Amino acid sequence: MTDGTTSKTLKLHVKTFGCQMNVYDSERMAEALAPAGYALTEEMDDADLVILNTCHIREKAAEKVYSELGRVRLAKEARATTGKETMVAVAGCVAQAEGAEIMRRANVVDLVVGPQSYHQLPDLLAKAKTSRGVLATEFPTEDKFAHLPARPKKRALPSAFVTVQEGCDKFCTFCVVPYTRGAEFSRPVSQLVQETEGLAEAGVREITLLGQNVNAYHGEGPDGKDWSLADLLRRLAEIPGIERLRYTTSHPRDMADDLIALHGDEPKVMPYLHLPFQAGADRMLKAMNRKHTAEEYRELIGRIRQARPDIALSTDIIVGFPGETDADFEETVALVKQIGFAQAFSFKYSARPGTPASTLEDQVPEEAKKERLQLLQAVIEEERKRFEQALVGQTIPVLFERRGRKPGQIAGRSPYLQAVHSEGPESLLGEIVEVDITAAGPNSLTGVINSGFAWDDTVQATG
Ligand code: 5AD
Ligand code: SF4
Repeated sequence: MTDGTTSKTLKLHVKTFGCQMNVYDSERMAEALAPAGYALTEEMDDADLVILNTCHIREKAAEKVYSELGRVRLAKEARATTGKETMVAVAGCVAQAEGAEIMRRANVVDLVVGPQSYHQLPDLLAKAKTSRGVLATEFPTEDKFAHLPARPKKRALPSAFVTVQEGCDKFCTFCVVPYTRGAEFSRPVSQLVQETEGLAEAGVREITLLGQNVNAYHGEGPDGKDWSLADLLRRLAEIPGIERLRYTTSHPRDMADDLIALHGDEPKVMPYLHLPFQAGADRMLKAMNRKHTAEEYRELIGRIRQARPDIALSTDIIVGFPGETDADFEETVALVKQIGFAQAFSFKYSARPGTPASTLEDQVPEEAKKERLQLLQAVIEEERKRFEQALVGQTIPVLFERRGRKPGQIAGRSPYLQAVHSEGPESLLGEIVEVDITAAGPNSLTGVINSGFAWDDTVQATG
């Protein structure tokens, strides 16, 4: 429309909680709503539509929804005094798990939409405008990805997520994912190649493949056969412009030989792996239904390091799973020390409704969980520092993504996923540049763009 006074742009505010898969989903929801006239705003007060994309993984994460809905209610009421309508939608895993409960507890909500129904958002919203309380949490049979619109041609950042796999069939006894995200589903290779080619054309250099159990990927290949994650990565590495590939989150049981070998063979696959082990004591691993022992995990890490000796390892750990003793916890600490992680995420066990572990007797007291977490996090922090300190004095390729905190600075990521800051021109954003690492701080590495690298506006990526 050329006449700006008659065209009406609607404003959409999306608040994302939880994991990277939600970050990806939020982007896709915004894209699905663009044809209906919605443009993103950072300000909730300006929004005609507010979407909370929620996380159900731990109790704290789930409770955030209800406190956030209190803020949304105030914004909605304030806007109503000036005659403006505000629609409110709750999406994500809390929507999936507690949709009816949300409707009951929070009458500010017009629409509850589960992760499998995002492609239906414009229709669901139209329905919610005429009748409050639309609940879409079933698992539709059609492929939502095939129904989502193509991704936009312009990207702000050279790094992007692509969800390749959803759901999980592992049923770890503490975890809600198999219930909120459903059974494992892998997107077909052709769809993913197309999406990645589009991103590359829009200037993306780095793709992180996402899935709750990403290395269980087994999507249909162009030859009609099931392709493994390694097959998919190898195919995506062929796409011009794509220089870096990552994937997360993996399960130790699905770390197949071809994937391990690829870490040694394909330089575009970054030397970084997030591989949760959750607990160090076999007794706990069994109770968690993890399907691996501590020794199997150690042995697996050995094989991965053989393929790619400099690989940065990351993990998830739970402390205070029901029945965990001090001795069990010590085994967790011991495993962390043996492996030497570049980073690790650790959590107090949180009983999730509907999961087998939530009804186990022998729940660990909060105080003990807190103490164990503090102890563990101190060990993890030491290892993180050690890993980063070892990078000082090395020259590493950095993909520069954004302006730095200080003027004249640019910021990017190392192959091992640390944030790196350096003095440099904005013309290097989106480029991969060799950087001499000079210092390791608490949140990022600092470096100097390699003196052998004569940067000016005509410089191209070094790859
Ligand atoms: N309590 C605590 N942590 C949990 N996680 C998953 N479920 C729970 C729970 N009930 C952690 C696991 C998982 C990460 C995403 O969240 O470590 O790998
Ligand atoms: Fe949850 Fe991961 Fe276990 Fe699946 S493998 S049930 S997503 S912790």
